[in-house]
Amino acid sequence: KIWLIFGIGSLFIFLTIVGVSAFAKGNQPPSGLTTIDPEKVDQTPPFNKPGLVKTGDNEYQLNMVASAFSYTPAQVEIPKGAKVTINVTTKDVIHGFEVVGTNINMMVEPGYVNSFTKTFDKTGEYTILCNEYCGAGHHMMTARIKVV
Ligand code: CUA
Repeated sequence: KIWLIFGIGSLFIFLTIVGVSAFAKGNQPPSGLTTIDPEKVDQTPPFNKPGLVKTGDNEYQLNMVASAFSYTPAQVEIPKGAKVTINVTTKDVIHGFEVVGTNINMMVEPGYVNSFTKTFDKTGEYTILCNEYCGAGHHMMTARIKVV
């Protein structure tokens, strides 16, 4: 009887925490992702011209396309201190987009655009790598960010 009360009590506490978190604190899964036709990535702005675009004072947009087994562009130079919004999509299958040594880690899904904004304060080289198994060349799927 004691354990039954303990179990039901735990469940009640758990559901209360989830409920407060979701409805009162607004912790919801990401939604409202931009959709894109994966077969028309090459014709759809901004992905028809992948790369770094200056959007404001020290602000940039980095538009990248993932496809088996590379990223376009394969290498990009970012000025130190720049605030960069990375937009990434894929033409074929699910890929990953991890920038090693940072908290940038996105799943790249066909049909969607994923975004992450980060300020690059330190000069150096960063490796972008695919951390979702995407096929035979998965282990070679990398790109490079140089902060200069
Ligand atoms: Cu792309 Cu693994």
